[in-house]
Amino acid sequence: MSFTPAITGTGVFTPELSISNTELVEAFNAYADKFNAEHADAIAAGEVDAKPHSSEEFILKASGIERRYVMDKAGVLNPDVMHPLLRQRGDDEPSIMAEMAVDAAQKALKAAGKTAADVGAVICAASNLERAYPAVAIEIQDLLGVQGFAFDMNVACSSATFGIQAAADMVRSGSIRSALVVNPEICSAHLEWRDRDCHFIFGDVATAVLIERSEDAAGPHFEIKSTRCATEFSNNIRNNNGYLRRSRPDGLADRRDMQFMQNGRKVFKEVLPMVSQHIAGHMADEDVTADQLKRLWLHQANKSMNDFIGKKVLGRDPAPGEQPNILQDYANTSSAGSIIAFSQYSDDLAEGDTGIICSFGAGYSVGSVIVERRG
Ligand code: COA
Repeated sequence: MSFTPAITGTGVFTPELSISNTELVEAFNAYADKFNAEHADAIAAGEVDAKPHSSEEFILKASGIERRYVMDKAGVLNPDVMHPLLRQRGDDEPSIMAEMAVDAAQKALKAAGKTAADVGAVICAASNLERAYPAVAIEIQDLLGVQGFAFDMNVACSSATFGIQAAADMVRSGSIRSALVVNPEICSAHLEWRDRDCHFIFGDVATAVLIERSEDAAGPHFEIKSTRCATEFSNNIRNNNGYLRRSRPDGLADRRDMQFMQNGRKVFKEVLPMVSQHIAGHMADEDVTADQLKRLWLHQANKSMNDFIGKKVLGRDPAPGEQPNILQDYANTSSAGSIIAFSQYSDDLAEGDTGIICSFGAGYSVGSVIVERRG
């Protein structure tokens, strides 16, 4: 017996605070001026590089990003701090990520016309996990009052599509009847806000999708026709050490490689062909032609990258709305980006319309989900 899995509801938690490029650049430049003044002698002696200013024009042109939502604004914009200041939670309190995900999950359940009683599993798929154990997913399960089981998984920016594949396979096989896949991303805490090359890239958000048997859907939904995941090692996007940082001989030193690191140019060049070929192969194997594809909901890292992939997949420039971008408002929100785009730009599709959700990033990793509108 096999069942058809479907995405029956989506939800997005958007933080209240946002930072414009103007505010971001002003804070960075104040930090750079302060750094340069404090290290004036070493800079003059050629021992330390002066920090150049950041520019709004560069950020918009290089990435398409105009602003980003964050869980804390004051710390990030304070030239003496330059990272989010998040209140330490007590043992009896849920993690911040769990609270963000619960908000998104409740919206997804409402959109699907379902309650926690209809959910069989929770998968928390994200780039960074606030609590390794007991597990953010189990906190979410507990807060929502879901029976069954929950677990965390991490495939960087591809976490959402890999999570959807895991949930869809379980629904298809009958081992569960439904699952919430949630993606809380506090990217602001892994971003190095003092690095001009990347300080503009990320934002915070949480997304959720409810996956059920198609036959259980209470309203319009998207059948999951097929999923495909792939990984290929690259160290061009990395975060070294994680919890092992305390075990290092240099103790708790504030080292650059403990935050997000990337070789952006190489990523740009290497990920584009990988993703284009992945999508083309997936579509060919499922007999989906470019003409049949009504929408691409792509990972949101860089506008030029998405424009390129859209053009490659469709064989022409995507028409307005065919490949919606949300990164101008949210920046790169890691695994959540393609799901925000899907959540905001899918209601208008008609019965039988086909689309593809695709996320990609560190690993390298790429995941695609071909969906068809029903109802
Ligand atoms: N303000 C002003 N100038 C800046 C700047 C800033 N904030 N950041 C970098 N620059 C400078 C650089 O120092 C460089 O100067 P140089 O030519 O004198 O060396 C120049 O602008 C170009 O920088 P570069 O890093 O080559 O720009 P880019 O066009 O490659 O754009 C990214 C940078 C990161 C936006 C782009 O490479 C990208 O999106 N890559 C993929 C990122 C990605 O998807 N990552 C996955 C994360 S999960």
